[in-house]
Amino acid sequence: MTRHFLRDDDLTPDEQGEVLDLAAQMKADRFAYQPLAGPRSVAVFFDKVSLRTRLSFEAGIAELGGQPIIVDTQATHFGRGESLADAGRVVERYVSAMVFRTTGDERLTELASGVDVPVINALTDGYHPCQLLADLLTIREKLGGTYDKKLAYVGDAANNMAHSYLLAGATAGMHVRVAGPPGFDPAPAVVSRAAEIAAWTGGSVEVLRDPYEAVDGVDVVATDTWTSMGQENDGRDRLTPFRPYQVNKDLLAAAGPEAIVLHCLPAHRGEEITDDVMDGVQSAVFDQAENRLHAQKALLAWLLAVNAQ
Ligand code: CP
Ligand code: NVA
Repeated sequence: MTRHFLRDDDLTPDEQGEVLDLAAQMKADRFAYQPLAGPRSVAVFFDKVSLRTRLSFEAGIAELGGQPIIVDTQATHFGRGESLADAGRVVERYVSAMVFRTTGDERLTELASGVDVPVINALTDGYHPCQLLADLLTIREKLGGTYDKKLAYVGDAANNMAHSYLLAGATAGMHVRVAGPPGFDPAPAVVSRAAEIAAWTGGSVEVLRDPYEAVDGVDVVATDTWTSMGQENDGRDRLTPFRPYQVNKDLLAAAGPEAIVLHCLPAHRGEEITDDVMDGVQSAVFDQAENRLHAQKALLAWLLAVNAQ
C-alpha cells in the first residue's frame, strides 16, 4: 500500500517525530540531502491560490535535487473532462510524488486512490497538514519539544487549521484547545479522532467557547484568517462573531509572557491578529513560515524512503 499524507493522522506519533527530526537535520545542513537527484520530478497542483506553499515546495523540491512541476489547474484538463483518478494514473507515469491544494477532501482522496506514488495534501477545506509539520517544528525549536505543551487555537474553529491543530497536536502529545464562536465549531468526527489519538500519546483536546479560558496558561497561541479561501462570498457575517477572538495584547497577556504566537499566514492585520502581536517579541510567525520549506523537504524524503521499502 502506497503511503500518502492526506491528513495529519496519516503519520503515527513515532513517524511524525521522524519527519520532524529529519526536518531539523535538513534545516541545519540545507543542501546536503539529494533524494530527488536525477532530477526526479514532483508535480504540485493548485486548485486554490498560494504564496508560501507554492514557493516552499518549488524551492524545496529543487533543493532536494529534483524538478518541481507547478500546475495551476485552471490552465489544464486536471479534474475537468476526465476524473481525478484517471488524471492521477497519467501523472504518476511522469513524477515521483504529487502535491495537491484543493477544495473538498474527496478530490484529494480521489486523486490518491489510484496512484502508486505518494500524494501530499497542500491544503484542503478540511485540513492543512503540511502547515502543522512546520508549526510543530517551530514549537520544538522555540519550546524544546511538543510533548505536554499546551496550545490554544482561537478563531475559526471549524476550518482546516483548527482540524489540523487537533489531529497533529494530539499526535505530538500536546494539550490542544480550540475556541471559536457558535456556528464555527470543529467537525465532531475530527474532535473524537483527535481525542482517541491524545489518549494514546498523553495529550488532550478541548473545544471551548471563551477565548480567555482557551489561552489561559498556554505555551502557544495560534490563530488563522476568519475567512478561508472559498468562503469570501458565502454571505456569513464573520467580523462580528469573531471580534472577541482577535489575538491582541490583552488576549496574549492571558497566556503569559513566555507564550509564542503562531499564524500560518497570510495574516489580516487588525482582524484576527494585531500589529503589535504580529511584530512583537512573542511572535514566531516568520520562523514558522520558513519552516514550511524544511518540513516539506523532510516529508517528501521520508515518504519516498518508506514507499521504496
Ligand atoms: N500558510 C499557507 O499555506 O500559505 P499560502 O496560502 O500562501 O500557501
Ligand atoms: N484557513 C486558511 C488557511 C490559509 C493558508 C484557508 O483555507 O484559506
